[in-house]
Amino acid sequence: MGIAKESVVEAIENALALLPAKEIENLLEVPPSADLGDYSFPCFTLAKKMRKAPAIIAKELAEKIPQDDLFNRIEVVNGYVNFYLDKGHLANKLLPKIKKEAMKYGQSDEGKSKSVVIDFSSPNIAKPFSVAHLRSTVIGHSLSRIWEHMGYKVERINHLGDWGTQFGKVIYAYKNWGDEPSSYSKGSIRHLLELYVRFHKEADQNPSLDDEARLWFKRLEDGDKEAYVLWEQFRKTSLDSLVEVYELMGITFDHYTGESFYNDKIPGAIEKLQPFMKESEGAEIVELSDDMPPFLVRKSDGATLYGTRDLAAAIYRQETYKFAKALYVVGGEQALHFKQVFAVLKKLGYDWADNCEHVPFGLMRFGDMKLSTRQGNVIFLEDVLAKAIELTKSIIEEKNPNLDNKEEVARAVGVGAVMFNDLRNNRIKDINFEWDELLNFQGDTGPYVQYTHARACSLLQKGGVPEAANLSLLQEEEEKVLVASLERFPEVVAQAAKGNEPSTVARYSLGLARDFNKFYQAHRIADAEEEVAKARLMLVDGVRQVIALSLYLLGIEAPEKM
Ligand code: ARG
Repeated sequence: MGIAKESVVEAIENALALLPAKEIENLLEVPPSADLGDYSFPCFTLAKKMRKAPAIIAKELAEKIPQDDLFNRIEVVNGYVNFYLDKGHLANKLLPKIKKEAMKYGQSDEGKSKSVVIDFSSPNIAKPFSVAHLRSTVIGHSLSRIWEHMGYKVERINHLGDWGTQFGKVIYAYKNWGDEPSSYSKGSIRHLLELYVRFHKEADQNPSLDDEARLWFKRLEDGDKEAYVLWEQFRKTSLDSLVEVYELMGITFDHYTGESFYNDKIPGAIEKLQPFMKESEGAEIVELSDDMPPFLVRKSDGATLYGTRDLAAAIYRQETYKFAKALYVVGGEQALHFKQVFAVLKKLGYDWADNCEHVPFGLMRFGDMKLSTRQGNVIFLEDVLAKAIELTKSIIEEKNPNLDNKEEVARAVGVGAVMFNDLRNNRIKDINFEWDELLNFQGDTGPYVQYTHARACSLLQKGGVPEAANLSLLQEEEEKVLVASLERFPEVVAQAAKGNEPSTVARYSLGLARDFNKFYQAHRIADAEEEVAKARLMLVDGVRQVIALSLYLLGIEAPEKM
């Protein structure tokens, strides 16, 4: 909670002597416009409890709240008590705090000695890492940082799709049409895709190929040496090229425990399921409540499934990490799958199933192109990132040809643009991928926020960061807006975590950048009158810090020059 909000909560708590701080915190609102104050306390829900009209409660409450330096004006409007913060006073408390805490500003201890397991990215190996997996990767990476900021220990898990019938297909295709193993080098994941596409084309003509593929997967599951060696080779090739893309984006994982990792854990999980299992047309299922189809444990040929492996994985994760929360950052089309998995866990008597959450997101549209791995209509993420970097480089060449480290900056900005585009709207919305839009330095984009950050850095480089300043001098409207916004940052992070919604941080960073640029247009900074200049430079430094921190929480870099 921000420092001003904290004192408002405390003041209400003391004056009201009725509600705990937490409830007051939840009730407090940020009014829609600044002339209604900075925080507003609605008294409507108290009316029943106190047997009084909200307007009367508000009036009596306001009278009981003592004068405070921080909120110098309190007004009652209908059933609301509105608090107006003294921005100068707030700035004096807040800016030194931000300077001191730096990248720790807004951290919470909510998650102390608790862990969150975040399953994200999790592409299917032996298929290319296409932009369809971009969303999970970017959202999950940002959520990891947001939950860390909330004080939790985060376990980043890449649940690679490295087991399953698709390997039967690729093995079959490879054996019949593949290159010699010696041609496997980095990048040959594209060759695997060719094989996968060719398999589907030929299987359309000749359905017996599907049986062949199933046979190969069965062999793989039964530990056949030849199948296993090929599988290992495909896995390694794919993982190498995956890791390259992650590195480009600055993304890391704590565990690359894919589906194959659970092979030896499945018998144990099935044993637990035994009392609930039923046979149905040769397959083994667990029946769930009426609104859900049954959960398939084993197919009639004995092969296990994606869902079986997810079940074993959830149990393993709870045993290993004792998570307070397990998040699955996976597209909305898998909603039923997770509902079933969680329901089966509940059936097994695991109450912690309630702490498992599917964090879905919308589709990614790439112009009007329809993506389908089977038809080979995939867009490789590495190509997209390369193009983003390329385009950014040409923009830099045009705008700032003398910049040092052009390569490095182009990478940070190009990749950041792609990531920000993915994070700026509520995750459940479908998103569009338009080059002009995402690289627009003036739009609601990553480059815009990064550019604003670089602008603040350059101002500070010229003017210097003062050790101290009289921050009560910050009385201009544009300054007050910035101070109020910086105060809200801790709240923004908490909100983002609560809703698993990085867009909360993205939108905040855009707002802060816009407000900063208004301030920058309206006022002289380093060359203002000396005391004022000092105060403004401190403000600039606070904004710089909080923009950098916001970008960090989104997983995006903040170059000092661009
Ligand atoms: N590999 C899956 C896919 O691409 C996503 C896996 C998500 N994680 C999980 N535990 N099921 O569709």
